[in-house]
Amino acid sequence: MSLRPINHMCRPLTVLGLESSCDDTAAAVVEYIPGEIAQVRSSVVLGQQGLHVSHGGVVPEIAARAHAVRLDQATERALTEAGTSLQEIDAVAVTAGPGLIGGLLAGIAFAQGVSVGSGKPLLGINHLAGHALTARMTDLIEFPFPALLVSGGHCQFLAVLGPDRFLRLGGTIDDAPGEAFDKSARLMKLSFPGGPAVEEMAGMGDPDRFRFPRPLSGRQGCNLSFSGLKTAVGRSCENLRRDGALESRSIADLCAGFQRAVSDILAEKTATALEEFSDRIGRARDFAICGGVAANREIRSSLKAVCSERSIRFIAPDPALCTDNGAMIAWAGIERIHVGAKGDSDVRARPRWPLDSVSAPILGHGKRGPKS
Ligand code: KG4
Ligand code: ZN
Repeated sequence: MSLRPINHMCRPLTVLGLESSCDDTAAAVVEYIPGEIAQVRSSVVLGQQGLHVSHGGVVPEIAARAHAVRLDQATERALTEAGTSLQEIDAVAVTAGPGLIGGLLAGIAFAQGVSVGSGKPLLGINHLAGHALTARMTDLIEFPFPALLVSGGHCQFLAVLGPDRFLRLGGTIDDAPGEAFDKSARLMKLSFPGGPAVEEMAGMGDPDRFRFPRPLSGRQGCNLSFSGLKTAVGRSCENLRRDGALESRSIADLCAGFQRAVSDILAEKTATALEEFSDRIGRARDFAICGGVAANREIRSSLKAVCSERSIRFIAPDPALCTDNGAMIAWAGIERIHVGAKGDSDVRARPRWPLDSVSAPILGHGKRGPKS
């Protein structure tokens, strides 16, 4: 495949980024000065966990209403904390998809208002591109690079070729790992979102007591599967509950075994994805992880080991920039402006918006979850 990397970034820019595709209302101001690492001047994330906790998952209608109320507040705080104003920024970037339609519409309507009111151009951003490009914001790594995007609704290995050029090397054939964390947490009656809760419990548990499956292990390619793992956790929970043994020691061991399984699956398939990147694109210098699950410490350290064995630099953004935030949306806007975007005249909500529109969809993927 012939490639002309787009690495040239020559103009200083300050962009306001808005994110409301799931259950976080986020606004941030990011400044880029050529040759320097971008500066996240502010990043405000107003989470909605409290609103959804009793439902055990994100309720789209509740999320959309909360975004409509909070976008204003998040934006005002982001501008104040950055010590700037709408007059001083260069553009407004907003998540246009994929995600929950109500949240996307709330974000786009708000951003359109800000854009018209301030006279600044508006850019509709792909949320997944925001995640995938974060490593360029934090470490200014060069295109093309391999990346693993692991979040609540997505899991894919990507060759990131340019700000809007992505090649999917592989991905989940069923659940996303974040979904598996969330559903397993629910089975164990842990708090929502499940990832941080499972990670905390896993720190106190024995990863060897429960040996959970590693689906697709040893198979060719870098597709992944997590639904069997979640089912196995469910079965163990049921057995323990029946025996009256689902107490905190067992829950910690279940969490540790589950987290170890996810981390082993991701490590094995990362090794395969790196080989595939090298065959199809060229030798990788850097490998980036992104998305909410990339905040997990055990996963970070096992993928770091995979990279060090191959002398590849491992880039894992600060956990606050792995989970949903406005800075990644602002940065994706900066990237697009640098390759010539002037603003999008018609920003539409796109609940489904694959990063790689050329590769065939993976069978079974994308049917469930708030970000499917
Ligand atoms: O990227 P994100 O904030 O939203 C989506 O785009 O989906 O990812 C949210 C997901 C949730 O499933 C959450 O449980 C998971 O990321 N997550 C974690 C951790 N922090 C968040 N999973 C494992 N370990 C964590 N520390
Ligand atoms: Zn996300």
